[in-house]
Amino acid sequence: MNTLSPGELRIRPAATADIDAIFSLIELYTGNGVVLKRSKDDIAAYLANFIVAEKNGSICGCCAARDFSNDLLEVRSLVVSPACQGQGIGKKLVKFIIDKLSAERKTWRLFTLTLQVEFFRSLGFAVVDKESFPEKIWSDCSKCPKYHCCDETALLLSSTDHQ
Ligand SMILES: CC(C)(COP(=O)(O)OP(=O)(O)OC[C@H]1O[C@@H](n2cnc3c(N)ncnc32)[C@H](O)[C@@H]1OP(=O)(O)O)[C@@H](O)C(=O)NCCC(=O)NCCS
Repeated sequence: MNTLSPGELRIRPAATADIDAIFSLIELYTGNGVVLKRSKDDIAAYLANFIVAEKNGSICGCCAARDFSNDLLEVRSLVVSPACQGQGIGKKLVKFIIDKLSAERKTWRLFTLTLQVEFFRSLGFAVVDKESFPEKIWSDCSKCPKYHCCDETALLLSSTDHQ
């Protein structure tokens, strides 16, 4: 059964019906460049990468894991609605991705480019040199308003750190 008790939080893969909610959540944080803008078409095209946090029938958080091949993936589009922050939902979303990777792959490296350094450190990620990543990960940077003044930090968690 898919029913949830009132107030119960569920982390699950995103479905087509979630696209509008994911779009609206991400939009809350694109204005100041905290997260990269995603169109509804883009979200739909990469829906398989997304997971959502659902509470009381509403989507209160989302996160995506983009696969760059060679077991290198990026945590992106991580957002929790303002009313639901500080309740452990962001951490649960990232942990869901880590657990899925651990179950599906022998080795993996999960990175993020973020301003939320302490949040990711609390999940075991460590700061790494941005230059250590292959060029293909920078494909989206040209769309970023902060392209010429990137203030994000790169952090990485790998299957060996996580064992
Ligand atoms: C970053 C974000 C996803 C965190 O989600 P959240 O549900 O509020 O975080 P949680 O409640 O799971 O916090 C988990 C831990 O991180 C800490 N933490 C959360 N946000 C933090 C911050 N901005 N600075 C320092 N620590 C932070 C919490 O104190 C908590 O620590 P604890 O487990 O030791 O108590 C959320 O604040 C958000 O949506 N921010 C705006 C968008 C954004 O910055 N996204 C990240 C893009 S990479």
